[in-house]
Amino acid sequence: MVLLTGARLGEGSSTGWAQGGVAAALGPDDSPSLHARDTIAAGAGLVDEAAAHLLAEAGPAEIEALYALGAPFEREADGSWALSREAAHSRARVARVKGDQAGAGILAALIEAVQAAPHIEIREGWRAAGLIPDEQGGCAGVTAFDAGGARHDLLASDTVLATGSLCGLYGVTTTPASSQGQALAWAARLGAVIQDPEFVQFHPTAIDVGRDPAPLATEALRGEGATLIDAKGHRFLRGVHSQAELAPRDVVARAVHRQVKTGRGAYLDARAAVGDEFPERFPAVFAACRAAGIDPRVAPIPVAPAAHYHMGGVATDTEGFTGVPGLWAVGECASTGVHGANRLASNSLLEGLVFGRRAAEALANAPQRTLKPVAADPAPELPGEALGALRAAMAMQAGVERDGAGLARLLELIDTLEAACGEADALIAARFVAAGASMRTESRGGHFRSDHPSDSAVAAHTRLTLAEARAVHPHIPPLAEPAE
Ligand code: SIN
Repeated sequence: MVLLTGARLGEGSSTGWAQGGVAAALGPDDSPSLHARDTIAAGAGLVDEAAAHLLAEAGPAEIEALYALGAPFEREADGSWALSREAAHSRARVARVKGDQAGAGILAALIEAVQAAPHIEIREGWRAAGLIPDEQGGCAGVTAFDAGGARHDLLASDTVLATGSLCGLYGVTTTPASSQGQALAWAARLGAVIQDPEFVQFHPTAIDVGRDPAPLATEALRGEGATLIDAKGHRFLRGVHSQAELAPRDVVARAVHRQVKTGRGAYLDARAAVGDEFPERFPAVFAACRAAGIDPRVAPIPVAPAAHYHMGGVATDTEGFTGVPGLWAVGECASTGVHGANRLASNSLLEGLVFGRRAAEALANAPQRTLKPVAADPAPELPGEALGALRAAMAMQAGVERDGAGLARLLELIDTLEAACGEADALIAARFVAAGASMRTESRGGHFRSDHPSDSAVAAHTRLTLAEARAVHPHIPPLAEPAE
């Protein structure tokens, strides 16, 4: 049975919004071992190498399987796959759909296949609200509300979490606003370990036109030669990294963040690289620009970083098992260790495909458990005003650059909101990010501490239970006394 977080199948999922495509070693100059090598390098010392090799090896077959299901990946005139180049990939290896429509094209094909499968029951309009604990430890199913608001406790021997991101907890995000780390809260309540929650990836080129969520300008534009310039037309990445605009995503995001913060401005200039071909080659970005009154054929696009992807999540093995009997997690809400501290562009859809398949295969052989469900009510919802305060504080204190004092203030706000509103799922997920970021007194990949700008010699994962995250209470330094 498939339960949804949106009203219709596919609604509220980040997959449908993905622009770039799916990374896979499909080119004649490429190989899975090169793809794994780039994945491991981007992850800044924290990638599980065995998981990265599994991911890269399985990539080409996943593209073939999706294509056979009807996902319209582009091909060149000679029949080979059309491949885009994205940052920190040593080869062009991103299989794309209609320029920047990969997520929508893949999702449409998958939805059609799911709807046609007689063994899959879809509860559209139902909203999953929490997990049912089992008396013997473990998960006994899901509590959900139907379209009319009636509660149902659905017992299941095995439950798979695939709720996506937590970036909706940030004031500026490229993901659906409903992506608020529900899986982290639900799994942690049943005793699951949350791994590397502090590693949030900020996309450097969200279109900065005041929309929430912010529309994305895909990295494939930079792969085509679009440049990042300041208000005076100067390419500011040139002095920052040898790969300039195609430097790893965290490097580009920090450079754009500093431009915006210091008022020098950041713009993506695709006039020379794409120009008049923009509407055909990047229709989603073109439409978002035109809706904001920008014509990217003749004007640079204002950009700013936005929370885009969560590398951390519910710790799982490479089959999606969380260690909690009956509970599995796949896709962005899981942490297999494949992304380490910094995900390589377009590895996210591939991760969902590869580890989703592995989980399904493992589940096909999982023995049925005898369930002893324990009555439990879903957590309270965070009221809109409190969520607004949390999102603003997450962006300010746990954003592209963090420091110990800001993270302590964030944890204090989470405590205050929890005392007022109860332990809402959004507060648990935010607490994991703040606790992990405050404990990691170094900078690595997507986590940059301005008070600890170097990495430490030994790369280590953060692994926290809910009790451990609740126990993190850093010291807030007093405000400096005004000078006499
Ligand atoms: C993009 O198209 O720039 C996003 C791709 C990704 O996040 O992997």
